[in-house]
Amino acid sequence: MWDPKQYSHFRDERKRPFFELLARVDVDAPSHVADLGCGTGDLTRVLTERWQEARVYGVDSSSAMVEEARRRPSSESLRFDVADLAGWEPPAPLDVLVSNAALHWVPDHGALLRRLVEKLAPGGVLAFQIPANFDAPSHRHIDEVRALPRFATKLESVRRGHAGPIEVYESLLSDLGLTVDAWETTYLHVLPGEDAVLEWLLGTTLRPVLAALNPEEGRAFLDTLRPLLRQSYPAHARGTPFRFTRRFVVARRGR
Ligand SMILES: C[S@@+](CC[C@H](N)C(=O)[O-])C[C@H]1O[C@@H](n2cnc3c(N)ncnc32)[C@H](O)[C@@H]1O
Repeated sequence: MWDPKQYSHFRDERKRPFFELLARVDVDAPSHVADLGCGTGDLTRVLTERWQEARVYGVDSSSAMVEEARRRPSSESLRFDVADLAGWEPPAPLDVLVSNAALHWVPDHGALLRRLVEKLAPGGVLAFQIPANFDAPSHRHIDEVRALPRFATKLESVRRGHAGPIEVYESLLSDLGLTVDAWETTYLHVLPGEDAVLEWLLGTTLRPVLAALNPEEGRAFLDTLRPLLRQSYPAHARGTPFRFTRRFVVARRGR
């Protein structure tokens, strides 16, 4: 379902939040570090560069992503596993647990965060970033097309991403005894190329939708969506402005 090439299309825009998240993780010499929903592992490799003495684990449920991750050169200290991040068991308590743009695909954030916190070593840090643009025009248009009689039945059970209010994450993790730093950022990406917002969505949000349709239905879906996106996101000579909000949480467990 996931396509490493399509996802890499807007690499710089997708990478930036990871570095902004990581900049707030203040841990000197961790022994065990995990990146949950690591995709092709490019950003997981950044973790091995920052913490060269640590064992680093990249975990992703997509075998296509993990195969690509394993194909690229990496250090001895880095291991990639195909697994659902919600059920993955680390080999040792984690000093740093990072997840960039992945947790929105996992249901029940309350249960998930409680479980992730249990995987932290004393003093360990949980740091995640999730997109929070689910009521943006892009997603509203996808929902409109999903609801058309031609697609509705087939797409009924196809999951949507979700993000809770930032206050919910703050209070949930504080109640678990962690010290929480949470913030939200809205980026205005100016995307190059034709039908740039559609191209962006093809790398992420539309993957599960297209995976549930046959090729002809998929083409029809995109043909219906394209004009709606063009209307809501007009292209200019300099590119297509695309507003995108993300939520960030860095939470440290007590010792
Ligand atoms: C938008 S990509 C982000 C990849 C990488 N973290 C990055 O920032 O470049 C989301 C990734 O989450 C993975 N993913 C989604 N649900 C997952 C789950 N339940 N368990 C593990 N990985 C999951 C997908 O396979 C995909 O590679």
